[in-house]
Amino acid sequence: MTPRKSSVIIFLGPPGAGKGTQAKMVAKKLDLPHISTGDILRNAINNGSDLGKEAQQFMDKGELVPDNIIFAITEERLQQPDCTHGAIFDGFPRNIAQAKEFMNLDYINKADESFAILIDLANDKVIERISNRRSCPNCNSVYNLINKKPKKKVDGHYICDNCGSELVIREDDKVETIKNRLSVYEKSTAPIINFFKNESILNTVDGAQSVEKINSEIMHILDK
Ligand code: AP5
Repeated sequence: MTPRKSSVIIFLGPPGAGKGTQAKMVAKKLDLPHISTGDILRNAINNGSDLGKEAQQFMDKGELVPDNIIFAITEERLQQPDCTHGAIFDGFPRNIAQAKEFMNLDYINKADESFAILIDLANDKVIERISNRRSCPNCNSVYNLINKKPKKKVDGHYICDNCGSELVIREDDKVETIKNRLSVYEKSTAPIINFFKNESILNTVDGAQSVEKINSEIMHILDK
C-alpha cells in the first residue's frame, strides 16, 4: 500500500474572508486537523486560563497576539497524534516573523506537499460578512444571518444547530475593532502573501463567490 502523503495547507486572507468556513470543509474532506489559532485563543479565553487572559488584551483591540504565545500554542498542537499526516492552518502564520519561523519548522520541512491559499475579499464585503456573523462559543460553529442562518431562536437569542449553545457576536466583531483588524491585516499580514509567492506555494481564490464555488476551486488547487 502507498503510504499516505502529508499535506500542509495554509489559509490566508483578510478577517471575515471565509478562511474558517473553507478550512473546516477541507479538513472534513481530507481528514486533516483544522488548526485555527483564533479558535484556540478564544477557547483559552472562555476557559479563563492565564494564556487566555493575556491574549484577550490584544484580541479585543484587534491587535496581533505576541508571536511567543502563538508559537507555544501551535507547537503544542502539532504534537497531537491527529497531525501525523499534515494539518490545515487557519490564521497562522500571520506576519513575516511567524512565516519565517513556520517555514523552518521540522514539521513543515518534512511535509510531502504545501499549499498557501489566499481567499481574497474587498473591505466592504468583509464588514458586511463580519457584522452578520454569529459564532458558537462552545463548538466554534460559525453562522451568518444572511446566508447561513441558525435554525432556532429562543427568547430573541440564536441557538447553535450543532450543539444547542446560545450564539454570540465575537468581542472583536464590533465595527471599530473590525476596522483596526483590517489595518493590522494590511500592515502585518498582507506582506506574507509575497513571502509565500516567493516560496512558490501561493494560490489565490476570489472570496466573493459562493461557499460551494470557492470550495470547488480550492479542491481543484489541491488536486483532490
Ligand atoms: P481569527 O479568529 O483568525 O480571525 P480573522 O483572521 O480575523 O478571521 P475571522 O475568523 O474573522 O474570519 P474568517 O476568514 O475565518 O471568516 P469566516 O469563515 O468566519 O483571529 C482573531 C484574533 O486572534 C486576531 O485578531 C488576533 O488578535 C488573534 N490571532 C489569531 N491568530 C493569530 C496569530 N497567528 N498571530 C497573532 N495573533 C493571532 O466567515 C466570515 C462570515 O462570512 C461568516 O459569517 C461566514 O458564515 C460567512 N461566509 C464565509 N464564506 C462566505 C461566502 N463565500 N459567502 C458569503 N458568506 C460567507
